[in-house]
Amino acid sequence: MTVRIRKAVFPVGGLGTRFLPATKAMPKEMLPVVDKPLIQYAVEEAAAAGIEHFIFVTGHGKTAIEDHFDSNVNLETLLKKNGNTELLNFLKDCTLDSGKISYTRQSEPKGLGHAVWCARDLVGDEPFAVLLPDDLFHCKTPCLKQMVQEYPKTAGNLVAIEEVPQNQTSRYGILSVASDDGKLVRVNGMVEKPSPDQAPSCYAILGRYILSPEIFTELSKQKAGAKGEIQLTDAMADTLDRVPFHGMRFEGKRFDCGNKIGFLMANVEFALDRPDLADDFKEALKTLSFE
Ligand code: G1P
Repeated sequence: MTVRIRKAVFPVGGLGTRFLPATKAMPKEMLPVVDKPLIQYAVEEAAAAGIEHFIFVTGHGKTAIEDHFDSNVNLETLLKKNGNTELLNFLKDCTLDSGKISYTRQSEPKGLGHAVWCARDLVGDEPFAVLLPDDLFHCKTPCLKQMVQEYPKTAGNLVAIEEVPQNQTSRYGILSVASDDGKLVRVNGMVEKPSPDQAPSCYAILGRYILSPEIFTELSKQKAGAKGEIQLTDAMADTLDRVPFHGMRFEGKRFDCGNKIGFLMANVEFALDRPDLADDFKEALKTLSFE
């Protein structure tokens, strides 16, 4: 039986302190890569994977995200009057249909697991996707679409993975791997943000998940883990005895836009991929000195 993944959760309640002062009054998810906010890349990726309902778990100071995906009648009227169809199309691209988008708030910053748990009533009893907009993917086939294509082989829980340098394991959820067929790895354990000497491998969980609704049973226990937060990784680990768990190597590149170097690299990569910018940008880059 083919199971459709219809709903996606976007945890966007985080404070974004690493990008202060830019994020003092603006959600970190609205930081632009070239000219599009991070959150829009994630929403477009989800839509390309067949997602029909977009669930945002927001928090204080995040209303710019709601406005971004709503229509802006004044701006549209002006652009129509000026006959600027190109810009009008940009606006259409970031307007989600009424009823296809839901917002719920995480009233306290209790961690990623808690944020996902806040979406439990909106998700209901069906498998769903989670996308962390800080992880920006540049792939021919969007990363979540690759996962949806693999999902019938795995069912249960599926996450995108990447091998990371040993000295970076403490930034990620790290998997313990039972078997590996090159594309999919079967997982028999995981730990959130282990120090390099404690890490069971270098396979890191990236910010793309397809989860069984069974996860909510574990998240409801509200168990605090690493950093005193309710961790999604811990809840996934606690379902290993009854829900199959796989990691998928995706085809493409991932940029960690939660840190400055990753964010800057993403801007360069995405600009160089833009037909309207690439040539001029390459020329401009040559004028920089790297001494
Ligand atoms: C979260 C997860 C972690 C995962 C990472 C991917 O951490 O808790 O397991 O590896 O996203 O980006 P965060 O980056 O929110 O600290």
